[in-house]
Amino acid sequence: MSPIRQVIPSALVVILVSLVATVTSGQQANYDETKVPAYTLPDPLICADGTAVKDAQTWRQKRRPEILKLFEEHVYGKAPGRPESMTFMTTSVNKDALGGLATRKEVTVYFTGRQQDPNMSILIYLPNNVSKPVRLFVGLNFGGNHAIHSDPGITLGRIWARGNKEKSSRATEKSRGSGADAWPVERILARGYGLATIYYCDIDPDFDDGFKNGVHPLFYKNGQDKPAANEWGSIAAWAWGLSRALDYFQTDADIDAKKVAVMGHSRLGKTALWAGATDERFALVISNDSGCGGAALSRRCFGETVAAINKSFPHWFCDNFNEYNGKEADLPVDQHMLVGLIAPRPVYVASAEEDKWADPRGEFLSAKHAGGVYKLLGAIPLPAEDMPPVGQAAMGTVAYHIRPGKHAVTDYDWDRYMDLADKHFKK
Ligand code: GCU
Repeated sequence: MSPIRQVIPSALVVILVSLVATVTSGQQANYDETKVPAYTLPDPLICADGTAVKDAQTWRQKRRPEILKLFEEHVYGKAPGRPESMTFMTTSVNKDALGGLATRKEVTVYFTGRQQDPNMSILIYLPNNVSKPVRLFVGLNFGGNHAIHSDPGITLGRIWARGNKEKSSRATEKSRGSGADAWPVERILARGYGLATIYYCDIDPDFDDGFKNGVHPLFYKNGQDKPAANEWGSIAAWAWGLSRALDYFQTDADIDAKKVAVMGHSRLGKTALWAGATDERFALVISNDSGCGGAALSRRCFGETVAAINKSFPHWFCDNFNEYNGKEADLPVDQHMLVGLIAPRPVYVASAEEDKWADPRGEFLSAKHAGGVYKLLGAIPLPAEDMPPVGQAAMGTVAYHIRPGKHAVTDYDWDRYMDLADKHFKK
C-alpha cells in the first residue's frame, strides 16, 4: 500500500481510481449494481462438445484440461515447464533469527543454472518450536524481500523503480520493513506455519518493456523476440516463478512440500490463483483482493474491466486477451472456472468493503459459482447463498470473506487464511 493511499480518505480513493480508469480506458468505470449487464456464465460442468460432467474422472481427464487450455489460450498465456538446468543455492541460514523464534534461510534459484541470467531469491522463515517438516505459506511481495520485515539479516536485493522503465538499484537500509503491514511474520510463526516470499520483479519486472528483461527471453525460440499471442504474460511468469519455488521446497527436508499454501494480494492475488490452477502441488490457494483477471467475474464489468486492465497493464495477460476488450460476453471462460480449476483443494477468496475497483460481489460470485465442481469432487462449496455480512467468514473447502476497510492485506485476512489452513492441514 503506497503511503499516499493511506492518507487519502477512501471515498476519494474510489473517485481517483475511477478517474484514472476513465482516462486510461476511455470509459467510465461502473459502480452501480443496477447497471451490471445481464450475463450468462459458461458452465464449468458442460464440456465443449456439450456433454455434461457427471463424475470426477470426466472432470479430471476431459473438462479440467479443456478449461485450463482455454485460460492459457485466451487469458494468461502458456508458460514453459521446469527448466532442466535450474539450480538452487542456499546463500544464508540463521537458526536464531527474530530473537530465536525462527530459522531464516535465503535461497537463490538460478532458472537456467547460469548466474548471469535472471534469478530469484527466496526468503524463508521457519518456526523453531515446531517439529520439521513444517507447513508453509508462500507469496510474492511488491517491495523486495527486505521490505516484509525490519529484520536486519535480510539481504538487500535489487529493486525496480515502479513505473520507471529499465531502472533498478540496490535496496536501501531505510526501506527495511516498509511493507511489513502485509506480512505479520511473528503471527504466522506463532501458529506453527513457515513463510516464504519472493520479490515479484526478480521473475519479471512489472512494466511494459516488450518482454526484454525478466524470464521471458530465456525461453524464446530462435528468432523470437516476444511471446506469441497465446504465450505467457507477466502474471503467468510470476506464477511460473512460484512453481519454481515449490520445486525448491520439495528439496528442503525442513519444509512439508505437500502442505504449501500460495497466497497473493491484488495483481499477485491474480497470480496466486493462476499458480494454483496450473500447479496442483499447491495444497491451498488464497486470493486477497485480486479483482479483475483474478477472482472477480469479468462479465459483471463492475469496477475494473477487461479493456481497462489491458490498457493500463498490457504486459500482464497474453495478447489474445485483448480480443475481449469490451466483449466480456464472448470470453469462453469466466473467473469462477479459474476457482474451479483449484478444486478439490481449499481456496480462499477475500474482498475488502471499500475496494470497489476489484468488485467484491464479483469475487464472491466466482467463489460461489465454482461450487458445482467442488461438490462433484466431494468437497464443500462455499456455505453462503449470498454475500456474508462484513467481517464474517463463510468457510467450506471454498471460503470467502469481505472485511471492512480498503485494498490491503490485514491481520484479519491472515488469521482467516490460517483458520482455513488449520482445518485442512491438521487432518
Ligand atoms: C491496479 C489494477 C488492479 C490490480 C492492482 C494491484 O489497481 O487496476 O487490477 O489488482 O493495481 O495489483 O495493486
